[in-house]
Amino acid sequence: MIPESFIQELLNRVDVVDVIDKSVPLKKAGANYSACCPFHNEKSPSFTVSPTKQFYHCFGCGAHGTAIGFVMEYQGLSFVEAIQDLAKMAGLTVPQETYDPAKPAPKVVVGLQESLQQAANYYKAELKKSPRAIDYLKARGLSGQVAAKFQIGYAPAAWQNLQSVFPHYESEALTIAGLVVENDQGRRYDRFRDRIMFPIHDQKGQVIGFGGRVINPEDTPKYYNSPETPLFQKGHELYGLFLARRAIRDAGRALVVEGYMDVVALAQFGIEYAVAALGTATTPFHITKLMRQTDEVVFCFDGDNAGLTAAWRAAMNALPALTDGLKLSFLFLPKEHDPDSYVREFGKEKFELEIKAAMPLSQFILKHLSENNSLQSQEDRVRFLNEAEPIMQQITAPRSAMFLRKKVAELAQLSPEEMQSLLKLPNLNKTPVNARPKLTRTTLSMHKRYCLMLLMQPALALREDLVWAEGRADEDVLLQQTIEICLIHPHSKPVVIMRELEGRVEAKVLAELERELNILDETLDLVQELEGARRQLYDVYTQRKEDLLLAQISEKPLSTLTENERTLLKSLGNKRSQNRA
Ligand code: CTP
Ligand code: MN
Repeated sequence: MIPESFIQELLNRVDVVDVIDKSVPLKKAGANYSACCPFHNEKSPSFTVSPTKQFYHCFGCGAHGTAIGFVMEYQGLSFVEAIQDLAKMAGLTVPQETYDPAKPAPKVVVGLQESLQQAANYYKAELKKSPRAIDYLKARGLSGQVAAKFQIGYAPAAWQNLQSVFPHYESEALTIAGLVVENDQGRRYDRFRDRIMFPIHDQKGQVIGFGGRVINPEDTPKYYNSPETPLFQKGHELYGLFLARRAIRDAGRALVVEGYMDVVALAQFGIEYAVAALGTATTPFHITKLMRQTDEVVFCFDGDNAGLTAAWRAAMNALPALTDGLKLSFLFLPKEHDPDSYVREFGKEKFELEIKAAMPLSQFILKHLSENNSLQSQEDRVRFLNEAEPIMQQITAPRSAMFLRKKVAELAQLSPEEMQSLLKLPNLNKTPVNARPKLTRTTLSMHKRYCLMLLMQPALALREDLVWAEGRADEDVLLQQTIEICLIHPHSKPVVIMRELEGRVEAKVLAELERELNILDETLDLVQELEGARRQLYDVYTQRKEDLLLAQISEKPLSTLTENERTLLKSLGNKRSQNRA
């Protein structure tokens, strides 16, 4: 856990005005600052930032929060990531403290990154010494040049090679970095042995993990990757992105493939804008990351069934991130090929022709939905609509959504109006045309986000939350009901709590929560995220209450104030001027 005192200290050190001004240039307007709101589309500024309260607020869309909230929303970061980002800005190091006394505190370990870099250097040097590894790469058609570009290496076969690199082989940093494994008997050995090593870089070009491929075809698993570590989260990283950045900009597009070798082979044949998800499905996070670099993303997975399934999952994960400016398409290779084998056989030009002819997302969706469905009977069309509805619900980019709806209605043999009245679909007029794409998990309001975290871990609901979570707005009610139900059913699954919520909160909100549950990033630290959301809410509610009190008191003539009210006025006033200092 990040200690509360640290978060306070952090908020004291950073100024919300500086933080926001870096991304959204602010203008002074009286005591506050203002700008056009970055969270919705508008022509005249209704977004204000208060240097005294250290809050931002948008009168147009209701976006509201502290510096932490802003960084989360604007950059699409989780609570913990936002804290880390701000801490860096303020020159602070994030400490950790134990949350559960039964579990030892996760220590902050120094030297992870350095260890990984040293290991990468070592593996690279070992490749030069191993004719067998070199032969393998040559046999796969890799040039020395491209191997060097990707810093490909080789981990020799013995159990403790890294002892020669790290004098402190017993160091905790090596296990946490995923380089060394410790078995039940306490014996330590290298994770990667007799494997071709592909270093994985973050966006700054630092090594954060490895993928290792066997040379001997009998060995398993074929690929072995670094585990999730403080530096490496598979759902967030894309192999090859650092090296591909320039090419992505030049080509105006990114190509997402499945494998390490695909990225490397494509680069060797001149297609340098390819990246790969790391043995996981493409997450919304991956897509948002790519969208920061380009507005055209082509997915090209293997031609087999696994590839098809991966393509569909990628499509579904992309839906919430879609904007009208983004072009997503899918390239399906012949069954026997993957990008590596295809580019070798047919070359760059043919591959790029295929890329140009890739199937647009909308077409892919329609094709998939009408597969195994002849749409002949009424029952067929009902099934088609049932399957299309949750997909259409997730698309809020107005133009894309509209065209897809039109097509779906046509296929279902309904008029657009009939379909609209039948299905629960988002109102497209409300969605600004060029709204900034955001990560799905942060498009949730603070309230919903907190409820989502509670659904996942109802046992962490606190009765005392009901004390401060006052109010009668829809969001307040959602919060109160969720807490109450979680208190009654602390060990239930999310679906059980959702069912209890039915009828007590709006169906639309429930649907939204359900959707978020399905795409929840499994790498999130739920306990910390819950704490973060609770903290933010608490701040907002406290602020609201203080504002109200102050407003009430200042309406009254000074002479009529009770002793209590005077003290309160004074203490709130002091707090404000302290914040200002
Ligand atoms: N993968 C993995 N772990 C495995 C198998 C696969 O992480 N046990 C990931 C790797 O990123 C791999 C990708 O899935 O690159 C695609 O796997 P696959 O199609 O099986 O391998 P290829 O990329 O074709 O590998 P190669 O060409 O080296 O045989
Ligand atoms: Mn392959």
